[in-house]
Amino acid sequence: VGHEQVNTNIVTLTRFLTEEQTKHKEATGDFTLLCHALQFSFKSIAYYIRRASLINLGGLAGSVNETGDDQKKLDVIGNDLFIAAMKSSGRVKVLVSEEEEELIPCDQLNPNARYAVACDPIDGSSNLDAGVSVGTIFGVFKLAEGSKGTKQELLLPGTELVAAGFTMYGASTQLVLTMKDGPVNGFTMDTSLGEFILTHPDMKMPKKRSIYSCNEGNSKYWHEPVLEWVDSLKQAEKPYSARYIGSMVADAYRTLLYGGIFAYPADKKSPKGKLRILYECAPMAMVFENAGGQAIDSNMRRMVEVVPESIHDRSGIFLGSYDEVQKVIEIHKKHG
Ligand code: AHG
Ligand code: MN
Ligand code: MN
Ligand code: MN
Repeated sequence: VGHEQVNTNIVTLTRFLTEEQTKHKEATGDFTLLCHALQFSFKSIAYYIRRASLINLGGLAGSVNETGDDQKKLDVIGNDLFIAAMKSSGRVKVLVSEEEEELIPCDQLNPNARYAVACDPIDGSSNLDAGVSVGTIFGVFKLAEGSKGTKQELLLPGTELVAAGFTMYGASTQLVLTMKDGPVNGFTMDTSLGEFILTHPDMKMPKKRSIYSCNEGNSKYWHEPVLEWVDSLKQAEKPYSARYIGSMVADAYRTLLYGGIFAYPADKKSPKGKLRILYECAPMAMVFENAGGQAIDSNMRRMVEVVPESIHDRSGIFLGSYDEVQKVIEIHKKHG
């Protein structure tokens, strides 16, 4: 590589956050500090996932979480790493985690902390032992001044998110980050530098693409419009390709880059759907809308407008390219 080919002006996540902060005159730097803590949790979770097979971190922890999932050892470690990072930031009032039944107070260092964070520390954890991509999903809310950070105050729709995103621990570690009404930016972890580097600025997803991604093993339980929709994709002149990893982060990341649609609909067996609103559906929906796609629930409502009834509440979800989600809406309309 010739000298002139070396990029000496790299945009790291740290630099990106500093530049964002200077764009907002009113910014106190609290959000930037919170993002630095998030960044450390991603790096450390990625580190333990890479080493899992070497240091006996495979398999189950022997416990079950609030939403009924058997916890893997790494679910528990990822959760602990995330909580420690949020507490040490001094910028987070409370945390909602998939792995904790109750809210986790994080304001010991700073009782005036204003942010609330929702997280899925390891999404796709059933794939961990096979070395298949997993990730972390997060959403950040800013609480009203004087807020105590109670459960009730956390029952917020995605439209209240100030930032959201996810990581994918795959062949490389990817971070996708977006802020309210802002662009979607993608970063790649450079393990030698120990930094996330801005590699995918202003991500815009393709308007359509013939790929669908859902667990078709559930079709026995699906409602008529969902059955008709998937069948229409298979009967299309050029039939759609099926791609399903079983880690929402990985299926979503592919969908964001290549286009297509990811779905986990509500069905007869799971009338509220499987995926959880605060730390799976809403953050993903914000990313997809900001990248030019659509995200809706099984009632064909904008996913970001859905208000959870409890902190671990679930929803059906369809997210993807604008035109692909529109097809789902049209077929549901026909069924009334
Ligand atoms: P988690 O590992 O955080 O509990 O989430 C699992 C989710 C999501 O990653 C994925 O899209 C979906 O569950 C897969 O569910 P099925 O195994 O039912 O297809
Ligand atoms: Mn789980
Ligand atoms: Mn998950
Ligand atoms: Mn999880």
